[in-house]
Amino acid sequence: VSDMLVDSFGRLHTYLRISLTERCNLRCQYCMPADGVELTPNAQLLSNAEILRLANLFVSSGVNKIRLTGGEPTVRKDIEDICLGLSKLKGLETLTMTTNGITLARKLPRLKECGLSSVNISLDTLVPAKFEFMTRRKGHEKVMNSINAAVDLGYHPVKVNCVVMRGFNDDEICDFVDLTREKPINVRFIEFMPFDGNVWNVKKLVPYSEMMDTVIKHFPSIKRLQDHPTDTAKNFAIDGHQGRVSFITSMTEHFCAGCNRLRILADGNFKVCLFGPSEVSLRDPLRDGAEDDELREIISAAVKRKKASHAGMFDLAKTANRPMIHIGG
Ligand code: GTP
Ligand code: 5AD
Ligand code: SF4
Repeated sequence: VSDMLVDSFGRLHTYLRISLTERCNLRCQYCMPADGVELTPNAQLLSNAEILRLANLFVSSGVNKIRLTGGEPTVRKDIEDICLGLSKLKGLETLTMTTNGITLARKLPRLKECGLSSVNISLDTLVPAKFEFMTRRKGHEKVMNSINAAVDLGYHPVKVNCVVMRGFNDDEICDFVDLTREKPINVRFIEFMPFDGNVWNVKKLVPYSEMMDTVIKHFPSIKRLQDHPTDTAKNFAIDGHQGRVSFITSMTEHFCAGCNRLRILADGNFKVCLFGPSEVSLRDPLRDGAEDDELREIISAAVKRKKASHAGMFDLAKTANRPMIHIGG
């Protein structure tokens, strides 16, 4: 193992997020601009074989966890083959996925056989009409079914991601917490983050401190759990609840000091931080016949350029990035 994945602040990157597609079967307002996004032509997206070649390089250099993202990763036709290939990489401990859960209930048993070790499912509201407003599509019941299917298949914990936006779902926080009483799920409340085209505005951001005030009032036994230094989430238990409640505080209390994440986007660009425009293509050298060592050098140089932290929410909102649907979170 070389120092390829160590940045200039000593952070070791063991977690790779791979976006498999720019397409999605939903149109969430906080993720995709209203008039859509430009799609990279299919021929310029990484193939299954290219994903495997790159993943192998990262895993042999110290990555032990891969998360598949999108767009919506399950719309990729070869998702099962991709999982099968990745799950066989020696040294990979966790192969997981962040999904909107629309088609998951149907696909999950097979994905599990292909080596998928856990799932995070996005769900921002428990009210079907609000779901349709936010996602510009129907499908609330399908997502609920997928959450239940994931629990029934023995995935534990099933993480449920809820992006909290003022005036949209901030009145549902306690209803989401209630779900954790009977279901062994981890509901994670996420501060709304700015990305290109998502009309972020600080008034729509509900800060962690405010979410916590609401939760404590109704669930006074809530207790902080020990978390891992590389966690995005602050995790909590509530007496009598099977599940857990967490907060992802990217905006008001960022966790960049413990960052262990790198990203490969569907078009083969390598992105060392969720925020900021800095990207370098791995696809182009790959297709030009680069040897592993050349690719390692490109990766290492990009990792060494990684900043200590993101720029703070107000600067982020002004800095060019991509729309979230291209990045995958
Ligand atoms: P685990 O791997 O289960 O810990 O999940 P995760 O939180 O890393 O990933 P997930 O895809 O479930 O994303 C949940 C939220 O965390 C989304 O809003 C992501 O955008 C955000 N997130 C994921 N990785 C990062 C990161 O490196 N930095 C920041 N600031 N936010 C992140
Ligand atoms: N702010 C915070 N989280 C977001 N997600 C998508 N867009 C945003 C945003 N603007 C979440 C999705 C998914 C995860 C990958 O990121 O809901 O759960
Ligand atoms: Fe890592 Fe960038 Fe996320 Fe901070 S904002 S945790 S540095 S990816």
